[in-house]
Amino acid sequence: MERPDRPANVSNAKSPDRAPRPEPAAEMTEDRKSPHVDIRWLKDIERVLITEQQLARRISEMAQVIQKDFSGREMVVVSLLSGTVMFLADLIRHLNLPMRLDFIGVSSYGAGTESGDLVFTKELRIDVKNRDVLLVDDILDTGKTMSRVLEKLKALRPRKIRTCVLLNKAARRVENVKADYIGFEIPDYFVVGYGLDFAERYRNLPFVGVLHEHVFKEVQKSPYRK
Ligand code: PRP
Repeated sequence: MERPDRPANVSNAKSPDRAPRPEPAAEMTEDRKSPHVDIRWLKDIERVLITEQQLARRISEMAQVIQKDFSGREMVVVSLLSGTVMFLADLIRHLNLPMRLDFIGVSSYGAGTESGDLVFTKELRIDVKNRDVLLVDDILDTGKTMSRVLEKLKALRPRKIRTCVLLNKAARRVENVKADYIGFEIPDYFVVGYGLDFAERYRNLPFVGVLHEHVFKEVQKSPYRK
């Protein structure tokens, strides 16, 4: 979706859980040399917040904890479309457990708004009643998405349900919802890459980066930027 147009600012919210803050990210100059990053994105990315290496290390750690907590029974992984695409793929390949995988499509209605109206674009197909469910999302921001989806899932009466997010932006929370497994606590930056988008772009960046303010301004001038 096209997320709200607003300047990046920093919150001093304290990390509540075990999640580390991102280590100092690689210098932009170093990342600019990466052969994996198309030059056309670099002008839009202010800096790398979480590098590929940091992502890989942390996701492997998360998988170890999840594997321990879910051992003994077949689990059902429920992943939210579309931002989880990279995180999910990397997480589940580290989970040495019997599992089934399904997706829920959910998106904030209205590009560029903060309305919080959610539309479900794909419903769950697997029956999760009496199952052990891991709900996976890329980012916990206001918490509106997670809280609506949890409500929906709990009504299906799983045996247990745990939530897992790559990024937690606690400073923007409006709903009383927390994730059980968190990759990184991040400040209130507008981040893209590694599945996260702005106007459906940048999902394929291999790192999590901070979107440059000029991108918001361009979209303000021309919402149908090609
Ligand atoms: C993004 C993200 C989360 C949600 C978090 O989804 O993937 O699901 O917003 O925001 P919230 O905590 O404020 O609800 P989006 O609607 O942008 O869809 P996408 O995953 O397809 O990008």
